[in-house]
Amino acid sequence: MTCSFRILYFERVSSTQDVAKKNLKENLVVVAEEMYAGRGRRGHKWHAPRGGLWMSAVVKPPEKMHLLTLAAGVAVVKALSELNISAGLKYPNDIFVNGKKAGGILTELYGELAVVGIGINLQNQIPDELRDIAISLPDIKRDALLGSILKNLCRETKKSPAEIIREWKQHSINLGRWVRVSEVREVYEGIAMDLDEDGFLLVKTDAGIKRVVAGDVALINPEKDYIL
Ligand code: BTN
Repeated sequence: MTCSFRILYFERVSSTQDVAKKNLKENLVVVAEEMYAGRGRRGHKWHAPRGGLWMSAVVKPPEKMHLLTLAAGVAVVKALSELNISAGLKYPNDIFVNGKKAGGILTELYGELAVVGIGINLQNQIPDELRDIAISLPDIKRDALLGSILKNLCRETKKSPAEIIREWKQHSINLGRWVRVSEVREVYEGIAMDLDEDGFLLVKTDAGIKRVVAGDVALINPEKDYIL
């Protein structure tokens, strides 16, 4: 099954998410050279100067919306692998390369359609204050990566929930690791054990198994990790 995407290129926009939302049509893709109000998950600002891949694609979401973030992550990892970069997925939306964040995914639902925003650091400068945690991939050509992501996004978003979860788990860098989860009302630590059938992370804590729905998940204590 192939998808034919229609790509709109812009020099500078507030956020490709906003432009895609305004032109909401299945298979529309918005790409910008730079964004001045790029956004990340949970209201974070996303730094998006020239040189990176900043794109938003309008797709039909899987029945369980949360799985779209996971399927998009798998699509990005497969696309990077086609360009000889080995990447992993940190729950729920981070793309990691060599232990640092190379990109992220933001999914937003508008009625029957969803906008999948994907940001990957390529030739763009990483701000000094983020150098310890973020990485760029300067050898990757943006349009080659864009083409490969779209091809894989088309395939991954059509898979069954069980397949999406199975593939996400194969590329996960969380499972079996000690994590700190920051939710709106509580912070807790434990071992990231598995995903449930809806794709939510299950963390084993002293107080029992917790299901991470909207929290940030940090990998914090390698000494407490164990391999499942
Ligand atoms: C995150 O890690 O919190 C998600 C980052 C998502 C960034 C992308 S860049 C393209 C699209 N447009 C935006 O404003 N954000 C997403």
